[in-house]
Amino acid sequence: MSDVGFQEVTIATPDDWHVHLRDDTMLRAVVPFTANLFRYALVMPNLSQPITTTASAAAYRERIIEAAGQDASAEFTPLMALYLNDSVSIADLSAGFSDGVVHAVKYYPAGATTNSEAGGSSLISYGPILSQIADLGIPLLVHAESTDPSVDIFDRERVFLENELAPVCEQLPTLKVTVEHVSTTDGVVFVREHSNVTGTITPHHLSCERSDILANGLRPDLYCKPVLNSKENRQTLIEAATSGEPSFFLGTDSAPHPLSSKRSAVGKAGIFSAPLALPVLAEVFAERGALDRLEAFTSTNGARYHGFEPSVYRVRLRRLDDRSEVFDEMLRTNDGYEVQMFGVEAARKWSLELLQGSRLDA
Ligand code: NCD
Ligand code: ZN
Repeated sequence: MSDVGFQEVTIATPDDWHVHLRDDTMLRAVVPFTANLFRYALVMPNLSQPITTTASAAAYRERIIEAAGQDASAEFTPLMALYLNDSVSIADLSAGFSDGVVHAVKYYPAGATTNSEAGGSSLISYGPILSQIADLGIPLLVHAESTDPSVDIFDRERVFLENELAPVCEQLPTLKVTVEHVSTTDGVVFVREHSNVTGTITPHHLSCERSDILANGLRPDLYCKPVLNSKENRQTLIEAATSGEPSFFLGTDSAPHPLSSKRSAVGKAGIFSAPLALPVLAEVFAERGALDRLEAFTSTNGARYHGFEPSVYRVRLRRLDDRSEVFDEMLRTNDGYEVQMFGVEAARKWSLELLQGSRLDA
């Protein structure tokens, strides 16, 4: 990355609108990083047993809060999503939503990504429940990738948007949709062309592209779904994220896997990006001369879309060229697995200070 010199920015506490916290020992290892830095965390339901009922969402939320324990800031609030498939019932979903247990519904095309086997084979076939979701005002989160094996991996977002999401948005114009982890220009254009559609963007899709996975030796740590795309696509994502437009906001898609599963004959998709997301984003925004719009992306746009005021607490980021802090990029779980963190290079350049108790209006 180019040298951007000394920089400083103070932002409201960020929210993460797409995070995988897993369960058991992995949950215990990773949740502190989210709980001490982020306010709202919209937690993905793709556990090995998908979260498809309000009761299982409530139980999972309890496990998250318990695992975060002392590490959680006073503001940390996990928000739960149900995994859309035939076992989701409209009555349970609407009760869970009105009780404040369920915040959103996530659609995975079966086979598109990690733990998506229990997902759907056609979004439009969920018409009746989607129409209820629209009426209730529940946000629908979409993993937008075609699973048609004849479609090239780098075209799968575009094909899903054209063939599956566009007809749904046309039939249900009031449905609130978030295209998750937008990875292409087509995704950005789709969001801009639909007034009820927003897009989350990850730190890794903003800071890396497909050449980084493949050009200098194979980098399984950079493999995720949707796969990092071309330089041109990345440039559009940077332009969208730094634009300040309210439709684009942060979802880290932080997706920890044991190193042994990442570096195996068939490697798992997912990048553990939550802990160092802010330094990575600060570097991207600083390079673009857009640090003044970082807060919109991390702390304001998503909150507004999801019906919340931005946090009144703040985080300060400072870039110092000669910072030589050494980071251990490997996290260890209690049962001996290693997990590789994304973003150590940027984290060496940016210091991060939580201004606890320091309100924006103070
Ligand atoms: C995610 C995971 O590991 O759960 N993986 C990924 O590559 N992003 C699932 C997902 O969001 O696609
Ligand atoms: Zn994800």
